[in-house]
Amino acid sequence: MFLDFSQLDGDLLNQYRYVFNHAFPEVIFQSEVVGSCWTKVEQYFPDFQRILIGSAGQLIGFINTLPLKLDVELGNLPAEGWDWLMQKGISDFEDGSDPNCLGGLQVVVAKEHQGKGFSKTLIVEGQRIQRQLQFRNFIIPIRPTLKHKHPKVSMLNYLKKQENDKIYDPWIRTHVKTGAKIIGVCSKSMHIQAKLSYWEKLLDQRITETGDYQIPGALNLVRIDIETGHGEYLEENIWINHPLD
Ligand SMILES: CC(C)(COP(=O)(O)OP(=O)(O)OC[C@H]1O[C@@H](n2cnc3c(N)ncnc32)[C@H](O)[C@@H]1OP(=O)(O)O)[C@@H](O)C(=O)NCCC(=O)NCCS
Repeated sequence: MFLDFSQLDGDLLNQYRYVFNHAFPEVIFQSEVVGSCWTKVEQYFPDFQRILIGSAGQLIGFINTLPLKLDVELGNLPAEGWDWLMQKGISDFEDGSDPNCLGGLQVVVAKEHQGKGFSKTLIVEGQRIQRQLQFRNFIIPIRPTLKHKHPKVSMLNYLKKQENDKIYDPWIRTHVKTGAKIIGVCSKSMHIQAKLSYWEKLLDQRITETGDYQIPGALNLVRIDIETGHGEYLEENIWINHPLD
């Protein structure tokens, strides 16, 4: 059964927050866009946050989406992928613009329920919202799940990677199998900046040289500049679209 965000009681809300906070590497939570926008997503669009509950009442996973007014061609979706999508949906709502498109922010399955095919159920639930609203497009800047093992490979080359004649990455594969069309790489999908001390703590080492560093769970390398005392992480994602069938 699916519930929306406003239907979560205290216990389920705690489970939701716990699973949410453990789904992504620490660096993602350093995003200013996540920090400034996420509560608005839940406040403005509670029925676009769909939570899958098992027969024993436990939280299995969820899909977070938001409506937006898409006013560019699919081929011209911004390089700022996820950051743009989040801010566009919120500003459209605040401006009172009529939405014409569904945007996917994330799909999460609780660790103990992963590997059982629930991600497809969650994508199909997003498609159900899209169909109900008759939106022609359901766009998502996806974060491929095995890319963190290849942080030095560009996303463009990673996208071409195959294994046994299949798309290598299981998350890209799952979307394609459920009807998505791949649009292309969004090269600045998440922009995260932090002081040197943050990166030193994350890596548990002193950083004395400017350069590119590998961070746990990050899809790309982080550029750390000793002169400015800052590090910058630009995460590449992949724009995909589920066209209305
Ligand atoms: C991404 C996520 C939602 C996928 O859900 P899941 O329960 O792990 O995956 P499913 O059981 O539904 O399987 C989906 C595909 O991934 C494959 N897969 C699942 N676990 C895998 C693993 N550990 N290694 C490789 N492939 C795996 C499955 O075989 C399947 O591919 P196939 O149908 O071609 O065989 C889940 O791993 C998750 O919540 N991850 C953390 C959050 C995240 O990264 N979300 C995606 C970005 S928004």
